[in-house]
Amino acid sequence: SVLEMEVEQINKGNYEHYMQKEIHEQPESLKTTMRGRLIRGGSCKAKTVLLGGLKDHFKTIRRSRRIVFIGCGTSYNAALAARPILEELSGVPVTMEIASDLLDRQGPIYREDTAVFVSQSGETADTLHALEYALENGALCVGITNTVGSAIARHTHCGVHINAGAEIGVASTKAYTSQIVVMAMLALAIGGDSITSQTRREAIIDGLFDLPNKVREVLKLDQEMKDLAKLLIAEQSLLVFGRGYNYATALEGALKVKEVALMHSEGMLAGEMKHGPLALVDENLTIIVIATRDSCFSKQQSVIQQLHARKGRLIVMCSKGDAVSACPGGFGRVIEVPQVEDCLQPVINIVPLQLLAYHLTVLRGYNVDQPRNLAKSVTTQ
Ligand code: G6P
Repeated sequence: SVLEMEVEQINKGNYEHYMQKEIHEQPESLKTTMRGRLIRGGSCKAKTVLLGGLKDHFKTIRRSRRIVFIGCGTSYNAALAARPILEELSGVPVTMEIASDLLDRQGPIYREDTAVFVSQSGETADTLHALEYALENGALCVGITNTVGSAIARHTHCGVHINAGAEIGVASTKAYTSQIVVMAMLALAIGGDSITSQTRREAIIDGLFDLPNKVREVLKLDQEMKDLAKLLIAEQSLLVFGRGYNYATALEGALKVKEVALMHSEGMLAGEMKHGPLALVDENLTIIVIATRDSCFSKQQSVIQQLHARKGRLIVMCSKGDAVSACPGGFGRVIEVPQVEDCLQPVINIVPLQLLAYHLTVLRGYNVDQPRNLAKSVTTQ
């Protein structure tokens, strides 16, 4: 009806689509996610993290044999992005499970495990079934959802709400970045305050405080990503290579492109390049390589060299001011992004890829907010 359409337009504000609105909302949604949870300065100078919903369970989590992340789609990718920092700060082994695959295998889940269920809607059937399975097996079950009162929020022993605000676009954007931030805070909280990690912890907390500003900065790439989308509009396929903290960025960037722009796209672990993907590379293949500064940078430099040697059409995402080292000789295109603490870099790096997927979709004339065949919340198996 006309009324419904008007209400829709009001909800979208000045944006044409929900996905666009939700991408641009991220500086605010991230602030809301962190509100009241990060403590810095004041009378006690200590920098700490407060996650009220978990406070009675940290002891159990620290003592668990492993932490296992369980989710689907973008929520799985967010957990993958947070895995390295959780391993580093907690010292507990962290494993990853796609919910359906855990169920297909009836994979081992033990009483000594902490199982963390990540779900924007809190209603995804596979994730919910995996939760029932983990409860039966006696694991401590933690929920990370965006929906208060959802099935996963209700059935887990404890949890954290990401408070990103309602997400309408089928392709998840702001929930992804808020999920990563919650799991980074979870890593800080589980890690406790050992002296050895003090400097690192403080750098991450400072980085979290500044993250909304950095996201605002990276959003300025909007026009540049629209121009890039124009160049890529007729591509058959797009590969995205990442590693380390940004392996998840490669998977999630490719997922955005395939689900909304309906373009074949795969995210790949750059360390696996020589074990197959390199055979695909020639002058007709476009590849995005994530090469922002972190401990994997020199390895990514060599990946870029090898892809260039095979004549791949490269788009390199690098830290601001770093184009010459990331892409020597000026071949390929660069996307320069603000640099943040390495474990938070996935929050920055996904934004240009969200924008790229958005613009590709609009230019290709597809439905941005409701891609064909997909649902916001998959409540059947
Ligand atoms: C669907 C949605 C995705 C989402 C996935 C998991 O496939 O289209 O955007 O990432 O479900 O949903 P959840 O609500 O569990 O995070």
